[in-house]
Amino acid sequence: MTTMPMTAAVPLLRLRDVRAGYGGGTILNGVDLDLARGEVLALLGRNGAGKTTLLHTVFNLGPTVQGEIHVRGEDVHGWPTHRIAQLGVALVPQGRGVFADLDVQDSLRLATLAPRPQQTTPAWTLDAVYARFPRLFERRRTRSGALSGGERQMLALGRALLTQADVIALDEPSEGLAPQAVAALQEHLAELARDGTTLLLVEQNTALALHLAHRVAVLGHGRVVFDGTPEALAADRATLHTHLGV
Ligand SMILES: Nc1ncnc2c1ncn2[C@@H]1O[C@H](COP(=O)(O)OP(=O)(O)OP(=O)(O)O)[C@@H](O)[C@H]1O
Ligand SMILES: [Mg+2]
Repeated sequence: MTTMPMTAAVPLLRLRDVRAGYGGGTILNGVDLDLARGEVLALLGRNGAGKTTLLHTVFNLGPTVQGEIHVRGEDVHGWPTHRIAQLGVALVPQGRGVFADLDVQDSLRLATLAPRPQQTTPAWTLDAVYARFPRLFERRRTRSGALSGGERQMLALGRALLTQADVIALDEPSEGLAPQAVAALQEHLAELARDGTTLLLVEQNTALALHLAHRVAVLGHGRVVFDGTPEALAADRATLHTHLGV
């Protein structure tokens, strides 16, 4: 009998029958979802479908949660957020969450202060982030609050990379960006995906998500109502119409 390393088959993220909500209200009502290493998974759904709630559920950022949440095979139910992040997952929150009063360089440096305990060789350095996002280097002495939307998104992404996370969850990164900035963001995310970064991409921009994703999940009625390839979703007119308003 051959012995397979256990880790080979363990999804980076695995949700089973996850129920979550706030106070009395249930928002997620039995979500099953897996994310494999190297995958780009787009999570779509209408306004208020529970996409942010799902991300906040994974990171234990507020909702009351029942069900199974495994990150890298660890049952993280009830863990504090920083310990979940130390497993190598980063969240770029909706609205980007940058510190307005810090300049770009200090914002990036701050992200390096909480290294992953199990990380031996950091893959991302400040120089590597500047090489990937030359615009951030040009703007390194600019207050984060004075950046354009696209620059702020790059900063948020650079901060996520500097935590050495190899799973990055992004909550509507294209929201409010000019078309040119969306195109630049798409190129950056595609490049990270080619490097092997695992991405969980929450989007309302269906076109962007379908372009980048290997797999798409659609949230509706508190559950995953579609889980398949972008091609299969593009051909599924009922799901597009009912759950995405396309
Ligand atoms: N902190 C909270 N307390 C109470 N209810 C909340 C809270 N956050 C979200 N909700 C409710 O949960 C539901 C799902 O919201 P959520 O933000 O997860 O949706 P979403 O899919 O991310 O929407 P959007 O595309 O607008 O960002 C909504 O009805 C919302 O009003
Ligand atoms: Mg949201």
